[in-house]
Amino acid sequence: MTDLERKHDRAPVPRDWTYAPAPESREIVRLDERYGHFVGGEWLEPAETYETISPASEETLATIGQATREEVDRAVGAARSAFADGWSSLPGSERAKYLFRIARILQERSRELAVLESLNGGKPIKESRDVDLPLAAAHFFYYAGWADKLEYAFPNRAPRPVGVAGQIIPWNFPLLMLAWKIAPALACGNTVVLKPAETTPLTALLFCDVLRQAELPAGVVNIVTGDGRTGAAIVDHADVDKIAFTGSTEVGKAIQRQLAGSGKKLTLELGGKAANIVFDDCALDQAVEGIVNGIYFNQGHVCCAGSRLLVQESIYEPLVEKLKRRLETLRVGDPLDKNTDVGAINSRMQLEKIQELVAAGEEEGAEIYQPPCRLPEKGYWFAPTVFTNVAQSYRIAQEEIFGPVLSVLTFRTPEEAVEKANNTPYGLSAGVWTEKGSRILWMAQRLRAGVVWANTFNRFDPSSPFGGYKESGFGREGGLHGLEPYLRFDE
Ligand code: NAI
Ligand code: MG
Repeated sequence: MTDLERKHDRAPVPRDWTYAPAPESREIVRLDERYGHFVGGEWLEPAETYETISPASEETLATIGQATREEVDRAVGAARSAFADGWSSLPGSERAKYLFRIARILQERSRELAVLESLNGGKPIKESRDVDLPLAAAHFFYYAGWADKLEYAFPNRAPRPVGVAGQIIPWNFPLLMLAWKIAPALACGNTVVLKPAETTPLTALLFCDVLRQAELPAGVVNIVTGDGRTGAAIVDHADVDKIAFTGSTEVGKAIQRQLAGSGKKLTLELGGKAANIVFDDCALDQAVEGIVNGIYFNQGHVCCAGSRLLVQESIYEPLVEKLKRRLETLRVGDPLDKNTDVGAINSRMQLEKIQELVAAGEEEGAEIYQPPCRLPEKGYWFAPTVFTNVAQSYRIAQEEIFGPVLSVLTFRTPEEAVEKANNTPYGLSAGVWTEKGSRILWMAQRLRAGVVWANTFNRFDPSSPFGGYKESGFGREGGLHGLEPYLRFDE
């Protein structure tokens, strides 16, 4: 109980307003000591293994398979058989039933999956619970709705499934990226070999149990775990018809080179360095919330994060002051605490990358601000950070940091804002904060970004296509557009 303080005739108030710990229980999750690969509806004992940890405590959670070329080959074989043995010729309405089932089971087991996501990946439970899980279920619901309507989606184009899809996903939204990949693939009648990222395999492995509950036919979805070598084996495999990749631009480029001339279909969703552009006529407090959500959500491990803040010069000072004050209220710590705003950095490697870029920012002459906060001793942590006095040429204004680090730049006119926003090799997303609808449209037409948010940021919906320009990749996920990469057309 909080200590209460009485002051004269006024109502008693707590002496101390700090938050008490509010940990979510881990009890709901039952972990196996060891996991194999999910191939043809069965668990395949892995030839090689590694350990997966919790980035918040560095404790080992389970032993995981590191799939070899032979194991990948078996998974592709299982997917090919399932494709030929009926899945591809099943009526769309039948495929939809499985997708609806998966969506409902994800909802029923959402707490279990959310706790596991936070445990293995380090993201705050309030985000896995309120963002990752609802969106993952929504994605399956949405594509379930398309499964029997493909001919109406693409009239007179005779859409047919592509075959076996190889899908490689990152660690920032493990289950959600799985949903983005698997839902449209199955809706279109393909089968799948999916590889989660090496640091976050656990929700994908628990998802295999969701598939068992949904009674999805064996081999329609196969999950193999492992690092980039496993990913490369999937990309390489001669019997895979389509590759869908989300991850770094560097690996995306390597995959594109690897696939050149192979005839395999490819979609790439790569990095970003989004501009979040704030005009002086915006609702300032609302914009501050949007800026915070834009860059500190999921520790900034977000490809579309608003990592470059472009502020109109006339409001620079009040905005930066408000932003710094707001940063002081962010609670950094235990991902499983329901009051945590910023959780653990996903891996030591990622932490080192953030530290290196932040050091470069200070060296190049930017001014750093971090609110006072006590970081836990064990695990990987980085305090929310703002850089001011940033020049466009600095590395922190050019390179994807993929951490809770914001670079602030200024502009005077809308033209200058557009020019600075587009001055990046990337083009995944952008944000515009202004009271004027006409200005929003004017900006949206000129920003070279796949998504432009207006007076909001990091908002996702399965019906809205997502994807990049330039080095952010090509192809779209979500919406009607998200079906196309999983279909071939007789034209
Ligand atoms: P990564 O691109 O190496 O990893 C993403 C996925 O690709 C993982 O499943 C990984 O095992 C797999 N992979 C790695 N090498 C591969 C290869 N040669 N062939 C096929 N698959 C391969 O990204 P990493 O190293 O985890 O992070 C490095 C940086 O990439 C981050 O700091 C961030 O800037 C960016 N990134 C961007 C993401 C996005 O959502 N666009 C997601 C993750 C990272
Ligand atoms: Mg890598």
